[in-house]
Amino acid sequence: MHQRDELDRAIEAAAREMARASHAVALVGAGLSAESGIPTFRGGEGLWTKLGEPTFDGWELFNEDPAAWWQRAIDFKEEFADFNRAIDEARPNPGHLAMADLEAMGRLAHVITQNIDNLHQRAGSRHITEIHGNRYLVRCMSCGSRDRLESVRLDRLPPLCPECGGFMKNDTVMFGEPIPEDALRECYRQTALCDLFLVVGTSAVVYPAAEFPVMACRRGVPLIEINPEETPLSGLAEVVIRASAGESLPAIVERLKAGTSRS
Ligand code: OAD
Repeated sequence: MHQRDELDRAIEAAAREMARASHAVALVGAGLSAESGIPTFRGGEGLWTKLGEPTFDGWELFNEDPAAWWQRAIDFKEEFADFNRAIDEARPNPGHLAMADLEAMGRLAHVITQNIDNLHQRAGSRHITEIHGNRYLVRCMSCGSRDRLESVRLDRLPPLCPECGGFMKNDTVMFGEPIPEDALRECYRQTALCDLFLVVGTSAVVYPAAEFPVMACRRGVPLIEINPEETPLSGLAEVVIRASAGESLPAIVERLKAGTSRS
């Protein structure tokens, strides 16, 4: 963690970059939702630390037999019960709310989130790409259209797309599954458009998500990292804020509102 004055200086520098940028984009990871009570994936209390990383054959199994895949997902729901409960009970924290404020202030153009918890939407952000999907949606594997999970009937498996009759699957992206085309396209578009990149609460080890800030950086776009721990992106970042997202993002908003960042 920074000493207080060092942290203040980093917040000030981040606010200055944000005041200057005309198209800032953020890549968000599980660290942002940690303060809403949702466990991260890696590190001491991480989901994968406890359960082990999922195997890469889920996508293959779905393609081989979508009905059996759904049945297994229903039968083994208990494995992720604590994680799912944490998501269902979570509320947006000051970090999510600050990101929505930054968007409303015209300082943050787009959020690329790896989180599946819907908390950006609930906080009021509008321009969001969910690169790993959304826990409350299903997606058609043929035409890509999405529907609410709760509106899908599971009495006949697999559920079929009302638009095209294709197989539906949870929108959340499994290990080994290709990123949905529409989401991936938007991520690359935002990466090409941005003139500032915020990296918030991600270990930056999962691809392609971790690639976007690197691509932007290669074009000379400054990176701001908000993470209490070092990541592979730390060395590339112009500004590193070694503090929680729930503390630092609202502080950036306050600084921008106070206008001190223009000095
Ligand atoms: P990780 O669990 O890999 O990393 C979480 C990061 O958040 C770590 O770098 C922590 O230091 C940081 N962190 C923890 N608390 C924080 C806080 N309060 N404020 C800011 N940062 C904090 O989670 P992701 O990087 O999101 O994908 O993981 C990426 C992907 O790996 C996930 O989307 C998921 C997983 O496998 C899929 O399942 C496809």
